[in-house]
Amino acid sequence: MKLVLEESTKRFGDLVAVDNLNLDIEDGEIVSLLGPSGSGKTTVLNMISGFERPNHGNVYFGGKSVNDIHPRERNVGMVFQEYAIFTTMNAYENIAFGLRVRKIPKRQIER
Ligand SMILES: Nc1ncnc2c1ncn2[C@@H]1O[C@H](COP(=O)(O)OP(=O)(O)O)[C@@H](O)[C@H]1O
Ligand SMILES: [Mg+2]
Repeated sequence: MKLVLEESTKRFGDLVAVDNLNLDIEDGEIVSLLGPSGSGKTTVLNMISGFERPNHGNVYFGGKSVNDIHPRERNVGMVFQEYAIFTTMNAYENIAFGLRVRKIPKRQIER
């Protein structure tokens, strides 16, 4: 599914974290965002996954605007830079958790 960010801007108060970004990513394409700390990489990922709402611009998945779609409904996987794991679970359990919530069959989770 094609991913498009169109004129996406995110401000935190006076600080412009992402300034009018246009980005087209084709289905299956692998893209890296490179830049110094504080240049807005995580904010871009947060706008794609829906954890941050752009002040301006649009995000499209497969040609459809996801501006009003909750992160839970976007079907985006994101691994955070800081640990965001369940400390009571091991690595396998952490990865399996989301799949169980989605009712993926046990054998498929194990695979
Ligand atoms: N929730 C927030 N509130 C205020 N400022 C933020 C917030 N998130 C990020 N920023 C600021 O936005 C800018 C871009 O941050 P970020 O997207 O985390 O950059 P990167 O991931 O490239 O290091 C930085 O100046 C950062 O301090
Ligand atoms: Mg970051």
